Amino acid sequence: MTQDGPDIRRLFRPRSVAVIGASHNESKIGHKILSNIVSGGYEGRIYPVNPKGGEILGIEVARSMDEVEADIDLVCTCVPAKFAYDAVMGAGERGAAFNLVITSGFSEVGNIEDEKRIADCAREHGMRLLGPNIFGMFSAASSIDATFGPGGIRHGGVAIITQSGALGLAMIGKTAVESVGISAIVSVGNKVDVDEADLVTYLMEDDITDVIFMYIEGVRNGDRLVEVLKTATRKKPVIVIKSGRSKRGAVAAASHTGSLAGSDAVFDAVMRQCGVLRAESVKEAFNLCKLLPEISIPKGENTVIITNGGGIGVLATDACEKFDVKLYDDLETLREVFDPATPDFGSTKNPIDLTGGATSKDYTCALDAALAHDDIAAVIALYCETAVFDADNLAEMIKDNTEKYRRAGKPIVFSVFGGRVAEQGQATLTKEGVPVFGDVYETVSCLGGVYSYRRYLSNWTDTIHEEDIDVPAIEAVIREARADGRRFLLAQEGRDVMRATGIPLPETRVSRTLDEAVAIAEEIGYPIVMKIVSRDILHKSDVGGVALDLENRDEIIDAYQAIMRNCRASVPDARIQGIQVSEMAPAGVELIVGARRDAAFGPIIMFGMGGIYVEVLKDISFRAVPLNRAEALEMMKEIRAYPLLLGVRGEERKDIESVLDAIIRLSTVIRRCEGISDIEINPLMAYEQGQGAKAVDVRILLSDVAGGEADA
Ligand code: COA
Repeated sequence: MTQDGPDIRRLFRPRSVAVIGASHNESKIGHKILSNIVSGGYEGRIYPVNPKGGEILGIEVARSMDEVEADIDLVCTCVPAKFAYDAVMGAGERGAAFNLVITSGFSEVGNIEDEKRIADCAREHGMRLLGPNIFGMFSAASSIDATFGPGGIRHGGVAIITQSGALGLAMIGKTAVESVGISAIVSVGNKVDVDEADLVTYLMEDDITDVIFMYIEGVRNGDRLVEVLKTATRKKPVIVIKSGRSKRGAVAAASHTGSLAGSDAVFDAVMRQCGVLRAESVKEAFNLCKLLPEISIPKGENTVIITNGGGIGVLATDACEKFDVKLYDDLETLREVFDPATPDFGSTKNPIDLTGGATSKDYTCALDAALAHDDIAAVIALYCETAVFDADNLAEMIKDNTEKYRRAGKPIVFSVFGGRVAEQGQATLTKEGVPVFGDVYETVSCLGGVYSYRRYLSNWTDTIHEEDIDVPAIEAVIREARADGRRFLLAQEGRDVMRATGIPLPETRVSRTLDEAVAIAEEIGYPIVMKIVSRDILHKSDVGGVALDLENRDEIIDAYQAIMRNCRASVPDARIQGIQVSEMAPAGVELIVGARRDAAFGPIIMFGMGGIYVEVLKDISFRAVPLNRAEALEMMKEIRAYPLLLGVRGEERKDIESVLDAIIRLSTVIRRCEGISDIEINPLMAYEQGQGAKAVDVRILLSDVAGGEADA
């Protein structure tokens, strides 16, 4: 993937477009694209290309690209796969800037070779290629609808980038029904060249785009995407849906798009780290797309629920807890603000219950009061259909109040629930582009999304933390292991890397004689652990090569002799370097800290509860590297067992600073030492505040020589 080449504005604002394979037959894709371009109001120059010549839709047809203007901005290739290479070549030779290769039949069905040929051909001609296997693109900036979708796209502020074709086409239809206005829709398909990062780079600066929505199946060049998204989300919200979430879904996505879906937990964590809102469903994504361009980001955390029904108010309260929307709880102020708007038998405790007798005037009165009060940052307004409400005024009341709140820069979300009146009100408002929801959970989840975006923006910093580590010393260890033909480090080498990284270890030395072992043990202090040191014995405990919890000199002597005897008996030819004598790390909270090079996102770091149950409990969290201490702390807080580190049942708080230090040091290693693909400390024993943390065991795998991932 290259970032060089023609200016991407020529894709979104083309002055000229050619459709190769524009068909005379109305039912063909090449015809539909041309007809959408014409009927969509595009004002640039249009060139249908078809060897048969003639006229299509009143436009003269060029018989080949030679008859088309040179350096054309945009080409749509709609010929069968077997002709695609020649068509791409023709466009490239004519100096085309961008080529939308609609044609299917490439890597998505295993035809990687032909896909590579067209990609190489495009690159050689300095032409950027979208797809193949796409439905095209729409750009409101130049009213160009170069898709074979239903046409009549409503212009607005939402940009959609989609890897799925069929779903993308269906979304075009859905945007019309839901009255979501679109600034651009780009189908990226097999992403052989132009990918999400290229498009977001443009869209984040694009004045007419308020929100970017991406549907992703698999990520390539994830580290570049992360970089771009981190910048984009500070300018406008980015929403993402990623399929392949379940294990089964991941397999389906991989075979469907020919790209790897990657680990969902990593994707999820990295997206959050970039401030991207991840939607669970297309519906949720659409809700966010409708709401975000219309409302301001709240100025504070205090939210008020205003309702005419107690039950629905409680549901909303539950949803607020689930989606981390904080309810204003200053009862005194709430009473002062809402007393005049609430009947005596209502409630001014949040939720504010206007009761079933509320009319549109009562709503407006309460909403005005909330709008006027500076401590109230956002409002959730709930309406349950009742016979006493003046139904004719419902849509008008919602519209007026939405507009007042919009002008004042205070967010409000409406949920209407009931029968015909509620449905009709919602339909009227949707048609007019006023965001209003049905289900309470949906409504609150949307506001929760807005709040998580607000928190991301207010906590944002570009600070990155790294620690001083001895890279040359680590590289020397790696060189030696490689010279030995290994892709993993031995325990002693792992400890050398830990020392060069500055992460404390239990004190350890190797003894060559019994006397030496006793002397070392006396110096370190009891209890002691002893282990055989031999590269011919990998599973030390299996052969009786380990002794734990040795309390005194006599136990050292017995253990030394027993270890030697056991090992010689089990592996007679083993070359024995000695016996390792180590401080027995006292019990603490067992954590795991790991770092690796992820196939999609590059270096990532993992934190969780360690020990032998890590695989079962999977109480772990991830972040992309580099990161800062605040992000590392957030990552620690994400695991369910985090309270154990704060101290439970009268226990002392653990040394969280030392754990953070280990995380930052390990992230520095994975970032600075290309030769390492995986590094994992398990357990990292965390002690009480001030007592530090120690790496009891470490496992390190090396990258293959080309710098890729270890396959161990
Ligand atoms: N240059 C220009 N035009 C050419 C050509 C060339 N080298 N070779 C053929 N054509 C013309 C044909 O004559 C035909 O026009 P006509 O109908 O007027 O005779 C037109 O191009 C289309 O060719 P045809 O062979 O009829 O193909 P098609 O329309 O049946 O299929 C694709 C072409 C690209 C639509 C098809 O191969 C395909 O990939 N379909 C799937 C697309 C898809 O789903 N993409 C992903 C969406 S998410």
